[in-house]
Amino acid sequence: MPAAGSGQRFGQEIPKQYMPLAGRTVIECSLEPFVADPRCTAIVVAICAADGRFADLQVAGEAKLSTVAGGAQRADSVLAALESMQAPDDEWVLVHDAARPCVSQAEIDALLEAAGVGEDGALLAVPLADTLKREAAGRVCETPSRDSLWRALTPQMFRLGDLRAALRAARAAGRSATDEAQALEWQGRQPRLVAGSALNLKITTAADLQLAAAILSQRGERR
Ligand code: CTP
Ligand code: MG
Repeated sequence: MPAAGSGQRFGQEIPKQYMPLAGRTVIECSLEPFVADPRCTAIVVAICAADGRFADLQVAGEAKLSTVAGGAQRADSVLAALESMQAPDDEWVLVHDAARPCVSQAEIDALLEAAGVGEDGALLAVPLADTLKREAAGRVCETPSRDSLWRALTPQMFRLGDLRAALRAARAAGRSATDEAQALEWQGRQPRLVAGSALNLKITTAADLQLAAAILSQRGERR
């Protein structure tokens, strides 16, 4: 779980993953389904080296959970977590953003089912619904087709060895993938798209936190 970001766009002193949500914090909500799932045998959370908050959370005491220092980019934080894992190369690993507290059990189950089908892994995603506009100097210069375009969510699921190799290769090439699938794509792989839910939003701004609170409260804080 990459959790080493500083939440520049959220713009609060407290990084967004530590904001209160549903009686706990955003990151605790994001961790919950994985902590509770016996199929998930180890969790590594990449936190900022200067982070003084994670250790104070109740979840920090979970036996299967450990932390590592994250890096400058999201991909660096993910790779740092993978490098600390002892599991065999063919073990499956899921990468899930600390900033996505509304992932559902149904999405995780769908992802696990789809990823096992091939060898290239899979990611949750949602087909694009809005019309896209490209901007130049405040005006529309193009309306790109949204045909076959999806928004990538997390979790994303790959073989540990494949993902680690892909992220190492990207780093060696001076490239930073914005999601795990992209690093695999650069290796010529074609991860499967698994339809997720628009409710599995990423908290970027204060409005997203309000939406997440509404979603979790309607769900009765259960998944
Ligand atoms: N992340 C990370 N290491 C980084 C940057 C981001 O582990 N160097 C994590 C964030 O903590 C978050 C996830 O990656 O859980 C998705 O990143 P994003 O939503 O962009 O979060 P921030 O980078 O914190 O926000 P911003 O881009 O607005 O600064
Ligand atoms: Mg960021």
